Amino acid sequence: MQNTQPVLQTFQLSKRFGELEAVQNVNLRLSPGEIVGLLGPNGAGKSTTIKMLSTLLRPSAGNAVLVGYDLIKDPFKIRQHIGIIFQDSTLDNRLTGRENLEFHCMIYKVPKQERPARIQQMLEMVDLTEAANRYVKTYSGGMKRRLEIARGLLHRPAILFLDEPTVGLDPQTRATIWEYVRRLVKEYGMGVLMTTHYMEEAENCRYIAIMDRGRLIAEGSPEQLKSMMEGDRIQLTTADNSLAASWLEQNRSLKVTVKQDGIEFVLPHGDTQLARLLTELPTEVQRLTVQQPTLEDVFIKLTGRQMRDSESGLIDRLRFSAQRKGRL
Ligand SMILES: Nc1ncnc2c1ncn2[C@@H]1O[C@H](COP(=O)(O)OP(=O)(O)OP(=O)(O)O)[C@@H](O)[C@H]1O
Ligand SMILES: [Mg+2]
Repeated sequence: MQNTQPVLQTFQLSKRFGELEAVQNVNLRLSPGEIVGLLGPNGAGKSTTIKMLSTLLRPSAGNAVLVGYDLIKDPFKIRQHIGIIFQDSTLDNRLTGRENLEFHCMIYKVPKQERPARIQQMLEMVDLTEAANRYVKTYSGGMKRRLEIARGLLHRPAILFLDEPTVGLDPQTRATIWEYVRRLVKEYGMGVLMTTHYMEEAENCRYIAIMDRGRLIAEGSPEQLKSMMEGDRIQLTTADNSLAASWLEQNRSLKVTVKQDGIEFVLPHGDTQLARLLTELPTEVQRLTVQQPTLEDVFIKLTGRQMRDSESGLIDRLRFSAQRKGRL
């Protein structure tokens, strides 16, 4: 994908709200058929970036080119080529699922004769054919999200923006939604720019940009980002944990933490070094756990903070339950 013409490219994209620099000099690139993830904690500037790129907010500085159009000069042309699935539901609860889709076709000027077939195809894709004539207010959270995805894709956008597409959903529904997205990327060659703070979701991305306080602080493939970590996290329970700890510190210069039921340390080049180290350890190993670095570890290393603290989990749950009650 390296040589493909990007379907989206930003140039020092920035947004200021009064004193707050919500997005600062962001440079991103998205190719057709590629999923790029924007990761960051609450307030990082992810939604603001998506809103600018989907022409809902005007940048304070910088610019972007989407499907060959200039974001500042041609927002209306861009709008016809993008699909957006927002963090907060924007479905009309008083309409049926099908009516929501028909309304969308009208706004996006999908040719009249094509509408029924396209709507049917999308409903089938998200498994909502049977529920299509029910009012959306009777849908579960997962059904609403699936309908939103169907709606976002009806006009066959070249770029799909997903702002936390699966927030508040159970793991099974999340997995299903990801199957759809991956299939569509493959079938239609859409470019997807998504935000999430679920680490396992980020693994779906070919390329990840980590955002914190309005800035991109690291970028790369999940593997490249993980290789920034010093090594694998090893947990050992041995016959003599304090002997094991002092041997590792003295002979291997490792920083060892002694825990209640064992010891823990980070081992550089664990894939090649671990087996030898275990045979040389002067005490019997009873239990071994090897944890490869996660994107969460990378994030903590870069920012000193967790991607998702308990408070943000609570905010998501509140936001989601308010959404379901039709208050947002
Ligand atoms: N319309 C607005 N007016 C003033 N400040 C805003 C506005 N929209 C966003 N902000 C602020 O800009 C910052 C970035 O917000 P944004 O919604 O982009 O974050 P986010 O990364 O999407 O966070 P979350 O994970 O909570 O969705 C926050 O400090 C937020 O309070
Ligand atoms: Mg957001």
